[in-house]
Amino acid sequence: MKFIRQLKKKDLSGKTVLLRADFNVPIKNGKVEEDYRIEHTLPTINYLQKNGARIILMSHLGDDGSATLAPVAKYLTKFFPTKLEKTLEKDKISAILAKNEVVLLENLRGNDGEKKNDLVFAKKLASLADLYVNDAFAVCHRAHASVVGVPKFLPSCAGFRLEKEISNLAKVFKPKLPFVVILGGIKFQTKIPLIKKLEKNADKIFLGGALANSFYKAKGFEVGQSTAEDEVAYLKPFLKNKKLVLPVDVEVLNKKTNKKAFKKAEEVTKDEMIVDVGSEGLKAIAEGVKKAKTILWNGPFGWFELGYKKGTLEIAKILASSKAFSVVGGGDTLASIKTLKLMDKFGFVSTGGGAMLDFIGSGGNLPGIKALK
Ligand code: 3PG
Repeated sequence: MKFIRQLKKKDLSGKTVLLRADFNVPIKNGKVEEDYRIEHTLPTINYLQKNGARIILMSHLGDDGSATLAPVAKYLTKFFPTKLEKTLEKDKISAILAKNEVVLLENLRGNDGEKKNDLVFAKKLASLADLYVNDAFAVCHRAHASVVGVPKFLPSCAGFRLEKEISNLAKVFKPKLPFVVILGGIKFQTKIPLIKKLEKNADKIFLGGALANSFYKAKGFEVGQSTAEDEVAYLKPFLKNKKLVLPVDVEVLNKKTNKKAFKKAEEVTKDEMIVDVGSEGLKAIAEGVKKAKTILWNGPFGWFELGYKKGTLEIAKILASSKAFSVVGGGDTLASIKTLKLMDKFGFVSTGGGAMLDFIGSGGNLPGIKALK
């Protein structure tokens, strides 16, 4: 794989570069609410500019392509003149670039061809530039046109951030032991293969959030109104593994009475919904983390969107005080670290959510990374 640091002024000067970024960031009232992913694309953009390249940025925003990247374009103008462009008309784009403005293409998923990895669409994108740079680690698990299609048609390389993600996350493949994994959130499909992959190396895997609810259900516990998978029989073999730890206590919300309470996980009733981890569960994590040399954390332990953040924030604090090399990722996980201003207390904070999990689960074999080889 080629990396952008290997390209010098002679390779970049006067060239038009198509830069795949992941600007899929939270937007509130037309404004960028959280900018971690944008901030970490800036070194690649700055390097390209310094070496005389013209830049066309492209990204998706949201799932269905209906959202506009206008707030991101506005945000970027803090750093350099940026023009949001809805069409893929080469002449129009060239005219903007000639004025030394950066072009940001409108939400890629607004085009049918993006998610389908339509090669005609990929070729059209590629025809706008001389070089392709991927700095969008967070979307490298998707075989979409702008991720795997475009590099078929252009000389390609990984941006600074993508390189950093690969080298830091790969440390988890050969972790210093003891290795402690903390997995919460909801994405069962990506987390189960990950657990299978990590079972061998990890000393402890602490589970929480909706993920834990499915395991409680597999154990035969009542989970009431909590989010959990319908079919959980396939989780039963995991329950024999002593490395897997479920919180012994949880916070519940009674949907009938609206009352909250802390209780043992096996005491949840039909009307209750598990909303956060309890203090005993947190104590177990703190104990596990104390001995750890490597920690991997992804996913909240409480129902973050509804404001049940205490458990997750507590985990962030526990990890921040540890001397272990910690790798963390995922939107809500990141939000909790940011709220507590603990960003610099972790070994590596990934820009990826699902991509981080898939990277580790697949041994680094993401479609977007393979496409650059
Ligand atoms: C993310 O937010 O994880 C990435 O931007 C990928 O988004 P997606 O899950 O909609 O493909």
